[in-house]
Amino acid sequence: MDKLKIRGGCTLEGEIRVSGAKNAALPILCAALLTERTLSLTNVPRLMDVRTMTKLLAQMGVEVSAKDDRVELRAAKLTNPEAPYEMVKTMRASVLVLGPLLARAGRARVSLPGGCAIGSRPVDQHLKGLQAMGATIAVEHGYMEARAERLRGARIVMDMVTVTGTENLMLAATLADGTTLIENAAREPEVVDLAHCLAAMGAKIEGAGSDAIRVEGVRALRGAEYRVMPDRIETGTYLAAVAATGGKVKLRDAAPATLDVTLEKLREAGATIRAGDNHIEIEADGRPHSVSVRTAPYPGFATDMQAQFMALAAIGDGTAVITETIFENRFMHALELQRLGAEIAIQGNSAVVSGVPRLQGATVMATDLRASAGLVIAGLIADGETVVDRIYHLDRGYEALETKLGALGARIERLK
Ligand code: UD1
Repeated sequence: MDKLKIRGGCTLEGEIRVSGAKNAALPILCAALLTERTLSLTNVPRLMDVRTMTKLLAQMGVEVSAKDDRVELRAAKLTNPEAPYEMVKTMRASVLVLGPLLARAGRARVSLPGGCAIGSRPVDQHLKGLQAMGATIAVEHGYMEARAERLRGARIVMDMVTVTGTENLMLAATLADGTTLIENAAREPEVVDLAHCLAAMGAKIEGAGSDAIRVEGVRALRGAEYRVMPDRIETGTYLAAVAATGGKVKLRDAAPATLDVTLEKLREAGATIRAGDNHIEIEADGRPHSVSVRTAPYPGFATDMQAQFMALAAIGDGTAVITETIFENRFMHALELQRLGAEIAIQGNSAVVSGVPRLQGATVMATDLRASAGLVIAGLIADGETVVDRIYHLDRGYEALETKLGALGARIERLK
């Protein structure tokens, strides 16, 4: 299993490009299931999760070709509308095929995701919405067996804000008979990006980005060309790294408008930030101020940035309280950060982080995607050598992480 070896203590300087957003690319890839015509995507990040999704789609009969950041998909026929356990267990977002398969093929067989390292993460809201649209869904032998003649429009009030839940229903509603209203919808920029792609394919969607999305079903969708939005979590991760190490970095091809709270919190930590339309420059120097955060659905502070901010708080000049409200059990990185000398006390869903002037390098283990990113940031600031084990988590969601950090002057190397 690959590891990352990091020698801490360098400031980061230079310029790198932000990749396309993983969490936008995954639902957008699934949109290809809705049409027999070709969907051509660019700015698709080269990531393990994207490869898993294209492999899954290919198994269903979708023709997929990928070169550099371009992926072309053509679902002329869906021969096998099934998502097997082996795939869903490695990537929960596989459940995003459920809505489009039902809408286009009238049936789907998708494995239940099961437990996951960051909490139970059920899919009841996805099912509730599809049932309201007329689907019958039975759970048999660990699989959701779903059927529908043709989905019909419905008014759906989500019990809680769910990103992939909103996306699944939006995908399904594009081909339903009549109008679907999704209330208490997720407002994440990735939901908006999916809506833009679907609109380019001929879908009729209003209100994406607000908590009420209205989809007027159409008979068929057409092919389209679409460019995936920049990854705001990747952007935020590099910004947090610079705020921690100090230095001066420019991130190109970013979407600053999707990062309001993150930028505000980094400024609170003492960083100077200048944002243009599609680039962000950050400059930081000296020890960061301690900054408290509380995760919340967009436009609140992203749970996917929580671990990176905990690493930053670990060397802050005071005490920070980090509260996680989206996922239970998303503090595993705290224990690993403690191994590097961080002072963190967990109290329920809050972590009280008393900043220390220095961390010390050690071997730590990545437990999930964003936890790993937090450990890499900690390794960049720790004295001596840090080895981050199990980085397959990082490979799921960060394109060329060690190359990008290396370009900024970090001493980081992959051990095979
Ligand atoms: C997405 C993101 C993930 C991010 C998360 C929260 C993708 C591919 N992944 O995950 O990176 O961390 O949003 O911003 O976009 N819930 C239920 N029932 C459901 C669905 C969700 O109880 O049917 C709960 C979850 O357990 C969780 C909360 O709702 O506590 C939010 O989860 P959700 O927004 O669905 O996360 P994902 O879409 O899986």
